[in-house]
Amino acid sequence: MSSLDLAAILRIPELPQQLARIGQDLKDVTASDNPFLQGPLARLLTVRGKRLRPSLVLASAGQSTEAVFAGCATVELIHLASLVHDDVIDNADSRWGIPTISSQEGVDRAILVGDYLLAKAAQQAAAINAEAAHIAATTIAELSEGQAYELMDTRNLHRSATDLKKSLFGKTAALMSASCRIGGLCAGYTSEQIAALAEYGECFGMAFQLIDDVLDFLSTSELLGKPTGTDVREGVYTMPVILALAGQHHQVVEPLLDDTSPEARVKLIDILTQDNCFTRTIAEARQYNDRAVKALDNVFDDSLAGLRALPTAYITWSLQQYVADEYKDKLVRSGLFGKS
Ligand code: FPP
Ligand code: MG
Repeated sequence: MSSLDLAAILRIPELPQQLARIGQDLKDVTASDNPFLQGPLARLLTVRGKRLRPSLVLASAGQSTEAVFAGCATVELIHLASLVHDDVIDNADSRWGIPTISSQEGVDRAILVGDYLLAKAAQQAAAINAEAAHIAATTIAELSEGQAYELMDTRNLHRSATDLKKSLFGKTAALMSASCRIGGLCAGYTSEQIAALAEYGECFGMAFQLIDDVLDFLSTSELLGKPTGTDVREGVYTMPVILALAGQHHQVVEPLLDDTSPEARVKLIDILTQDNCFTRTIAEARQYNDRAVKALDNVFDDSLAGLRALPTAYITWSLQQYVADEYKDKLVRSGLFGKS
């Protein structure tokens, strides 16, 4: 399995050392004397995640001051809190290849750990300045709204692409946008530059979540380290399903969404493949990526080359890395898979 070489893509050779420091910062700022929290926190913070959001802060800022590191901790803590709570909502038993807090220590402790992480994120943001604290608070509200939009539409066969995108914005794009915004803020950029970075992060975030939703169908829990197939099982109809429900096979698709058998899942994936629902979703993600890169044009001249390269590199890497072999051929033939 090849890991995502963010240092090379973002052109930050010192990124591995910076991410190691962020890993230590996260442990330091979340240290607690409370034994109820200590165990699950320790397990959570031994995970070596991609640290994509802190990398966005660093790449946007183009510098690594104490304020920038506080920004990195802010966004990663919000991210971790949201996933701890998401695993409660999704009833998920694993993430990053290890048991979730809700499955191991229970829902009550998972809720408390998530709350604790959010409070620690708020402290980190406040240590930067009032504007950063405002961005963090706004983003936490957007995340909650995004998740609420998703739950409101559970098993809604009439969920539209517009409804879905409102949820994707809150769930994922808002925090990626905030990561870039905080980076720009710490670097002292103009408001026009910060707005361009925020737009970049938002568009890349939309692409990121569209791809994540494709992988829920086409990857495996072994490859991803978290359960797959949860979206349909939990009644969350993402872009591939929304496209299929608007297509010629909708009458076949509808009963399959309520059928939890493995055969129904295989059949559903077959129809979605046949109707190009995955390739159309990937094409839409790539369009968002184009918008992300365009947002930086005319505002940053030729600088931020690493950020410009990231969206395409990320999508190509994640599809190659995570799509199960049995589905790869069809995507490669569609031309949307991307070059290695
Ligand atoms: C993962 O989505 C979930 C999110 C990105 C956001 C979850 C947000 C909340 C639970 C709202 C509360 C927010 C805070 C800040 C505590 P997914 O289930 O589609 O992806 P997965 O496969 O990684 O679980
Ligand atoms: Mg989930």
